Amino acid sequence: MNGYVFGATDLVDEQREAMQRCLDPITFARLESLGVGQGWRCLDVGGGGGSVADRLGEKVGETGSVLVTDTAPDGLRSRGNVEVRQHDIVTDELPEGEFDLVHARLVLLHLPERRRALARMVRALKPGGWLLLGEFDCTWLRVLATTDPAAGVVFARFHRALCAVLEQAGADVEWGVHAYQAVQDLGLVEIGSHAGAQPWPGGGDGARWLEINSRQLEDRLLGTGLVTAGDLDGVRASLSDPAFVVSSYLTISTWGRRPLDDTPGRAAR
Ligand SMILES: C[S@@+](CC[C@H](N)C(=O)[O-])C[C@H]1O[C@@H](n2cnc3c(N)ncnc32)[C@H](O)[C@@H]1O
Repeated sequence: MNGYVFGATDLVDEQREAMQRCLDPITFARLESLGVGQGWRCLDVGGGGGSVADRLGEKVGETGSVLVTDTAPDGLRSRGNVEVRQHDIVTDELPEGEFDLVHARLVLLHLPERRRALARMVRALKPGGWLLLGEFDCTWLRVLATTDPAAGVVFARFHRALCAVLEQAGADVEWGVHAYQAVQDLGLVEIGSHAGAQPWPGGGDGARWLEINSRQLEDRLLGTGLVTAGDLDGVRASLSDPAFVVSSYLTISTWGRRPLDDTPGRAAR
């Protein structure tokens, strides 16, 4: 199967919650700095558990509105000014020239057709509208502290296997870095980016997210031949130990604006 590999397990709700607790502070700060406010019309692509759509709904108020899409919208709720739509960003059309903000977090990274999807997102912007992407450079996931150096070696094997599984499914594991060029190639202006990483101690949200990933992808991870079942047990034990600390993936926000003099529908064909 190509594309998104983490859906359709009984762990997906907990995965979404951990992900949101790790990343929402970063995304919400960026939405502030872009000036999202009353009356804006916003689109959140691949909205997952819905925390960003809910936040946007609060920011845009009664005079604004939010459309949140996902191929698997079971974690999303329509309410107030937030509308949920089942939608595949690769294959399904979007209205063009309609949105003041189009946001996607950890979606395009997974999709082999990410540039086509990105072009569709850019066409959906009004002239002057903002695109915001939150993505990872998955190659950056380092052990910051451990009482057992051997555990760090096993974790590095797990990390290599995880990247291999993602790449086998068509992910660009360095998409966080490549997004800037892609946004530039689509003619956006006022482009900016910010990268950072946070410590993820064992037992915390980030470590739990990784542990869930190790369970969701267990068969595929073993199939790479890069890790054993014993390695995965060891990684899970490390990820529940507060003395074992990894850095998060490098988390890269990239933003840009559709030129004001651009004609709706012309962009990125
Ligand atoms: C890693 S989750 C991120 C969820 C949310 N954006 C967040 O950051 O909390 C990726 C989401 O993208 C959705 N997705 C995967 N492929 C998609 C596609 N082709 N079109 C729209 N959504 C997609 C998945 O169902 C999942 O909810």
